[in-house]
Formats: sequence, structure tokens, C-alpha cells
Amino acid sequence: MQKRSQKTNSLTSLILDVKNEALAQIMDAKKADELENLRIAYLGRNGKLTKLIKEIKDLPAEDKKQAGRLINEAKNTVLETISSQKNTFKEAAREWFDATIPGEKPNVGHLHLVTQAIEEISDTFKKIGFVRVRYPEVEWDWFAFESLNIPKGHPARDDWETFFIDTPPNSKYGRVCLTPHTSSGQVREMERVKNPPIRMINIAKCYRRQLDVSHTQMFHQFEGLVVDKGISIIHLKGTLDYFARNFFGKDRKTRLRPHHFQFTEPSFEVDISCGVCKGKGCKLCKEGWLELGGSGMVHPTVLKNGGIDPNKYTGFAFGWGVERTFMMKSGLEMGDIRLLYGTDLKFLTQF
Ligand code: PHE
Repeated sequence: MQKRSQKTNSLTSLILDVKNEALAQIMDAKKADELENLRIAYLGRNGKLTKLIKEIKDLPAEDKKQAGRLINEAKNTVLETISSQKNTFKEAAREWFDATIPGEKPNVGHLHLVTQAIEEISDTFKKIGFVRVRYPEVEWDWFAFESLNIPKGHPARDDWETFFIDTPPNSKYGRVCLTPHTSSGQVREMERVKNPPIRMINIAKCYRRQLDVSHTQMFHQFEGLVVDKGISIIHLKGTLDYFARNFFGKDRKTRLRPHHFQFTEPSFEVDISCGVCKGKGCKLCKEGWLELGGSGMVHPTVLKNGGIDPNKYTGFAFGWGVERTFMMKSGLEMGDIRLLYGTDLKFLTQF
């Protein structure tokens, strides 16, 4: 065995001393940043071990290899110990649990704005004996138009107003369409009940070929239909006033304006007194009134089409948009109604 030089011996023992010193300090460290400081102190550019590496070049040639191996081994041991200590700190941090920190609240969803409105509208009418029904969204021409006294050439029956389904027509009921209004439930309800009294509230999706800031191709309507002996405009007005007070607020009133619908005679447009100016006239309403939707006394032809004798029975009907009615209640001025059917949660979670 070769005899090592004095220089080699002293460097070797220096390496071992520095390594042991480093390991002792690493084991004493209390925090991750202390470990990082130790790494720099021993292995950084001017670190204690790094400096010793530089001394190797002064050793006799035959000792260089062994000293190099020794210092490499010291370097790796120091690095490994530092990283394993760092991991121990991390794990300790994970195990530590502070029960006093407030928890993260889970997201809780809620019913869609339109669903809330539908529930409120149907509850309001249920209290005065109306029965909530639903009729098909995909409907025959007969129920949507023909039975309602809407003649063939009527603009509402145009391809540009209504979505017609590309399927062979039925010999009795005609073409298939997406129902453009809840009035399609009138004759269906007469057929279901057969013998009046009828007190129907039909709330459903409707479809029309219109899409802009104030229209969506799919929207909702609610339709009231009352048929009995001796039903007059007074009953219609009373029902509308009841709805206005209960849905919009005690001080709200309705008014009827003459209008025209094929399936009611006489027909009216229903207005509600403005909730902002209380009928005086303001920016929102102009003259103190806001337009709600259509109504009227059921046309004798419609009663006949539903199998009801118009000489014995009379009735009234009204049909309004759910979205529009709800916005009038909340005073919500929506620049773009399409937001209701979008997926922007920032908007939807407000309600
Ligand atoms: N169906 C009519 C519409 O969609 C509204 C209406 C319903 C009018 C009932 C009178 C009676 O505009």
C-alpha cells in the first residue's frame, strides 16, 4: 500500500471534520430556511466543502482520485441529509391541524330565477282554487292555432313566427310545432275536465322565432283559464287584482285596455300600476302603467271546439310571460334577457 503524503492526510481528516460538523448542524436545524442557509454555508460557491475541493489539485497525483471520491461522498451525504430533513419538516406541517381556522364554505346552489318565479306564480293561483297543469311543448297545429280560432293565413302561423317540425301532418290535427303560447292548453283542458267548472293555471315553455336582447327563442308563459256558469269580465278583473296584490304588492292595481285576440271576445291588454312611481308616471313606465300581457273572455268558437256549450257556459283567459312578469316585480332592469339562459354564474347566483 502506498504511503500517503502529509498533505493528503490532513485534507482527508479536514473533509471528515467538515462533513461531521455539517451533519450535526443539519440535525439541529429547526426550520426549512435554516437548512437552506446550511446548504449555502457548506456547498455554496464559497462553502466550506467547496473550498476543500479546490485543494485537491495541490495533492500528489496518486492521491487525487481517492480524495476526490471522499469529498464527493461527503457532499452527497450532506445534500441528502438536508433534503430528508426538509421533507420531515413538510410532513410535520401537514400533520398540524388548527381546528380554530374557519372552514371553507361549500358552494350551495339554488333554484333558477325562472323556477322560483314559476313556483311563486303557481302558489298564488293555487290559493284561489286554480289547478296547475302542463301541456305538451311539441304540439299539434289544432291545439296551438286552429281550435283557437286562428285562421290559416294568420301571421302567427307563419314559418317565420313558429317553429314547425318537419314531419308528416296528421289528418285531424294538422302539422306539428313547438307550442308558441300556453293558450294551446285551453282546448286540451276543456277536453280533460269535460264538465265545468274549470280553473286552470298552465305554466310551460313556449317557443318563437325571435332572438334579441328582449327575446329568447324559448321562454315561459302562464295561462289562466276559468269556465263556469255566469263567468263575466268582473271575475276576470277580480282575479287580476287579486294576483296584482298578492304577487306584486298591496298597493298595485290592474287596468284593462281593449285589444284583439282571435280566441277571446272581448279581448284586453292587462296593465299593472308602476311600482316605482305608484301610477304617477316615470322613466320606467312613462304613464304610470306597465304592460303585463293578454286576456279576454273565451270566444264561443273555442268553447265549442273544447266540447263545451257556449250557451250554458262562459269563461275568461289570460296569458303572460313569466320572465317579463318576474322582472316587473323585482324591478330588475335587464339589459339583455338572454343572460337568464346563459351560464354566467356571477349573474345567476345573485338571485
Ligand atoms: N296567447 C296570447 C299571447 O301569447 C296571450 C293571451 C292568452 C291572450 C289568453 C288572451 C287570452 O300573446
